[in-house]
Amino acid sequence: MSKQTGKKSTVAGATAWEPRIVAFLCNWCSYAGADLAGMSRLSYPAAIKVIRLPCSGRVDPMFVLKSFERGADMVLVSGCHPGDCHYSSGNYHARRKLPAFRELLSFLGIDPRRFKVSWVSAAEGAKWSALVARITEEAYALGPFEAFPQCDADDFGECEFAAQGPACAAAASANEDRP
Ligand code: FES
Repeated sequence: MSKQTGKKSTVAGATAWEPRIVAFLCNWCSYAGADLAGMSRLSYPAAIKVIRLPCSGRVDPMFVLKSFERGADMVLVSGCHPGDCHYSSGNYHARRKLPAFRELLSFLGIDPRRFKVSWVSAAEGAKWSALVARITEEAYALGPFEAFPQCDADDFGECEFAAQGPACAAAASANEDRP
């Protein structure tokens, strides 16, 4: 698990932590909304790193987990408003799938507040700008995402997380050995 927790910036010789926010945006609405914000010269924090996808329904929960694994402090998924999906029902799938996924984040050791879902249309550049400003503030308040706990015990019985289930390789292999 990566220990990366964001970039360092230098201000008058001092270094300060900055959050790293990964945003999965659907091509047809939210990406266009972010583009409109830029064209309208609406500023928003640079902490956000945009990944463009065809549709919010394309977001696999593993994309979110991989983002945290690779050093994200917060992850945002944004797509067309319900009813406006370019593919008719992609965001309906996202609307059902992603909140259910959020319910599991605590179990995985991730604060659910670090995962956001929001609908932004191509005409909502101002909403995009305000959204990024708001979640960046929240990311600062939450602080750096700490890596998932690592278990270096050779034996499942020695693992300090054993009581929490398969939180390490030793626990996983112990589970495999079970009949
Ligand atoms: Fe935007 Fe499906 S095309 S959410």
